[in-house]
Amino acid sequence: ALALLGPADLAGRRVVVTAGGTREPLDPVRFLGNRSSGRQGAALAAEAARRGADVRLLAASVDEVARRTATAAGVAVTDVTTTAELRDAVRAAVADADVLVMAAAVADFRPAAPATGKIKKDGGAPPTLTLVENPDILAEVAADRPHPRLVVVGFAAETGEPEEVLALGRAKARRKGADLLAVNAVGTDRGFGDVTNAITVLDADGEVVGSGAGTKAEVAATLWDLVADRLR
Ligand code: CTP
Ligand code: CA
Repeated sequence: ALALLGPADLAGRRVVVTAGGTREPLDPVRFLGNRSSGRQGAALAAEAARRGADVRLLAASVDEVARRTATAAGVAVTDVTTTAELRDAVRAAVADADVLVMAAAVADFRPAAPATGKIKKDGGAPPTLTLVENPDILAEVAADRPHPRLVVVGFAAETGEPEEVLALGRAKARRKGADLLAVNAVGTDRGFGDVTNAITVLDADGEVVGSGAGTKAEVAATLWDLVADRLR
């Protein structure tokens, strides 16, 4: 019966997955954000839970489908909004974790000084937004690990021809220092029909260690196979 449920190769492991997109306040009612639904991250969290892991999802404004995917699989969900909140939540959660998967779309920049009151039209020139760069959560954790056995995994969506995507992914893998970087080629039709996700997984040296395509759940299964290899 167990075999029918699939591998339990993550039994006893503590897994932290980030999902969704961080939002940075402009003023008390407005933010700078992105369109990430959190569904790939939720699929990753759910698949880890099915394989026996104790999973926490750090959810940055995920949609309802993503939330249900996670909770239905028994994943514990912690909601966050800004990159600073996500960073604090990641730091706290990885202290006793075996794996961190950064599937969230983290805002690269934030307004330097959010307005304390609602920004008003005053008939003058439109306001100019001054942005500052956010910390790179993935690179920080990879460089300063709470303990050496933590496996750190990143996700990168890139556009372009397959060779360009691979070159961008290789450079990013080497820059980030994560153990694995899943590179998702977006906007390319690879002839899989309805299949919308294809990942190539690179190690910290930028070498290809695996690949997979299919639904978000299938992509998640491919990634966990590779992570489970690293945990053994
Ligand atoms: N990431 C992060 N903190 C940031 C930005 C990105 O932890 N401030 C993580 C993402 O969660 C993802 C990985 O880094 O796992 C790759 O994100 P991506 O946006 O592709 O990389 P960037 O370094 O931000 O480069 P780019 O200029 O291509 O956006
Ligand atoms: Ca980015």
